[in-house]
Amino acid sequence: MLAIIGGTGMTQLANLEITHRQVIRTPYGEPSGPLTFGRIKHHNVVFLARHGYGHTIPPHEINYRANIWALSSQKVKRIVAVASVGGIAAALKPGALAVPDQLIDYTYGRKFTFFEGGEKPVTHIDFTEPYSDKLRQRILKAAHAAQVAVSDGGIYAATQGPRLETAAEINRLERDGATMVGMTGMPEAALARELGIEYAALAVVANHAAGREPQGSAIDMAAIHAVLTGAMEQVRNVLEYVVDH
Ligand code: HPA
Repeated sequence: MLAIIGGTGMTQLANLEITHRQVIRTPYGEPSGPLTFGRIKHHNVVFLARHGYGHTIPPHEINYRANIWALSSQKVKRIVAVASVGGIAAALKPGALAVPDQLIDYTYGRKFTFFEGGEKPVTHIDFTEPYSDKLRQRILKAAHAAQVAVSDGGIYAATQGPRLETAAEINRLERDGATMVGMTGMPEAALARELGIEYAALAVVANHAAGREPQGSAIDMAAIHAVLTGAMEQVRNVLEYVVDH
């Protein structure tokens, strides 16, 4: 089954015909909320709002392990993670969509692995390609079919948050090669890999990253929400084709 994790601007999926919700208990504590099961175009889909259905859980307090474990417990084999980002590359303007193909993890202090020693042998997942190429291609094809413009590739920098970055931090991320910045891409992607789930991200550019605003103005949260509301319509269109292909 395919799962969709919704980020900022997507606490529910308007095109999901909901069948039921289920609270899942996990060995890692509580997920961000009950899983929402339903159908899009007659295909079974499960949805989870990463920040909670009321958008109350900040990026550093999300229980990523519980979320991924809960989805895995329901036989989820693929996750499309919708995540809002700041655009670093000039082409990634507010409202643009992208399917990153690499990431760099700058987060700290998060519970980032299911492998915590104990009786289990030491395990090192291969993470050379952090996103499933098969799923990435499926999203790109879906976007094409839905006639929604999506950038193919990009390097996602995962920062700790919840504050936004300084202009100098964004300059450093750019020197590192990052083209977009968000706060929730890790450890989510690595945890999915640990459980053998195919994972890909559909990034939605909410704002120019710090210091990249054309007029050098501060990042405006009201403007971000307006951008996301429009862009999520496009995301829903793409997702309808993703489940159908
Ligand atoms: N920085 C980090 N995370 C974000 C941003 C940003 O500018 N915009 C949306 N998520």
